[in-house]
Amino acid sequence: MSLNWMAEKLRPYEPSIFATIGRLALENKCVNFGQGFPDFDGPRMVKDAACAAISEGHNQYAPLAGTPQIRQALAEKYKQINLDYDADSQISIFNGATQAMYAALTAIVNPGDEVIVFEPTYDTYNPIIEMNGGIPVPVRLHPPSFHFELQELRSAFSPRTRAIIINTPHNPSSRVFTQHELSDIRDLCLEFNCIAITDEVYEYLVFHTEHISIASLEGMSERTIIISSSAKTFALTGWKIGYALAPVAATEAMRRLHQYIAFAVSTPLQLGIARGIERIDTLLPAMIQRLKRKRTLMCNQLEELGFNVLRPQGTFFILADISKLTKLDDISFVRKLIESEVRVATIPVSVFYRDTQTAPKNYIRFCFAKKTSTIEKGLQQLQKIKDL
Ligand SMILES: Cc1ncc(COP(=O)(O)O)c(C=O)c1O
Repeated sequence: MSLNWMAEKLRPYEPSIFATIGRLALENKCVNFGQGFPDFDGPRMVKDAACAAISEGHNQYAPLAGTPQIRQALAEKYKQINLDYDADSQISIFNGATQAMYAALTAIVNPGDEVIVFEPTYDTYNPIIEMNGGIPVPVRLHPPSFHFELQELRSAFSPRTRAIIINTPHNPSSRVFTQHELSDIRDLCLEFNCIAITDEVYEYLVFHTEHISIASLEGMSERTIIISSSAKTFALTGWKIGYALAPVAATEAMRRLHQYIAFAVSTPLQLGIARGIERIDTLLPAMIQRLKRKRTLMCNQLEELGFNVLRPQGTFFILADISKLTKLDDISFVRKLIESEVRVATIPVSVFYRDTQTAPKNYIRFCFAKKTSTIEKGLQQLQKIKDL
C-alpha cells in the first residue's frame, strides 16, 4: 500500500507562485525582478565581523534567546525611538522574521481565534494562522493608494479577534502606514483587547517619509509583538537573522516554542549582525541613497513604458498598474513577459489575496533592489513590450 506522507494540515498549501516564477525565470533566462532580495552584497564590515567571529571560535550553540551582543545592540537601538525592551527577558532572536512570525502566532493563537490581516497579504501569515486553528480575517487596502477604510477595519473586529498583523512598510504595496492610520488601529486594539503583531522587516528602507512602529503609540507596547529582521536592512537575506521584541509573558511563550523548533540561531552570524546594528546609523545613509537612485531610475522608466507606477514609500518593491498596456490579467501578463522575447520576471499581485476572484488583477510587482547593471538590462528588455 502506498503511503500518504502529507499530513492533512499541510495539504491546502500548494507550492507558492514565487517558486513557480523563480523556476520559469531560470528556464527562460529572464532578468529576475520577481525575487524579493538584492543581487548585490551587504556591508563589508558586517561580513568581516561574522568571519572574525568564526575565526575566533564562536562556533557553538548560541543561547536560546540569542547572543547577548545582538540583544543588547537591539535594546540600545529601540531606546532611540523611546521603546524600552529588556535584552534578557523581552528580546529574542529567530531564524528570520518568518520563524519569529511562526513563533508569535503559535504562541498566542488558540483554535477559533480570529486574526486580522491586511490584504494584499504577505504569503506566510494565513497558513501559519490556519495551522494553529485560527481564522484569518482579511481587510483590504484599496488601490490605487492602498489605504484601508476605517469602517471596514472596524467591522472586521469582533469579540473573537485575538490579534491584528501590521506589516509596515508594506509588501507588496510599498506603502508606509501613517501615524493617523496606526492610531486608528491602536484604538481598535484597545477597544477589543487584542494583540498587535508587527512585521517591520523593511523598517529602515523608507524614502521621503518616516516609519513608525505601532508599539511606540501610547498603550501599545504592552500589547505588541514587534517582529523584524536584519535580512533586508543589511541586504543579507541569506543569513536569516530575525528578532522579536515583546512583553515578558509573550517572550516566554515564544521561547517555549523556539526551544523545540530550532533552539538556537547561528552564533557567528548573530555576532556579525550585532556589529551591524551597533553601526547602523553610519551604514544606513549610503544604503538608502543607493536604493533611492534605483527606485527613481526604475519608476521613471516604467512610467515611460506606459506602466502606471505607485512610487514606493518603502521596501524593495514597485507596484505597477498594467491596464494601459494590456487586456490580460496580471498572472497571464507575467507569464507573457517571462515566456516572450521580453524575458523579464515579475510577481502578479493577485496572488497576495485570499479570494483571487475579487482581487485586483491589474498590478504586478517589480523588485528594484538589484545592481544598476541588472536594472538597466531588464529595462532594456522591457522595451520589447511595445512589440507584444
Ligand atoms: C513582509 C515580509 N516579512 C517577512 C519576510 C521574511 O523575512 P526573513 O527573511 O527574515 O524571514 C519578508 C521577505 O521577503 C517580507 O517581505
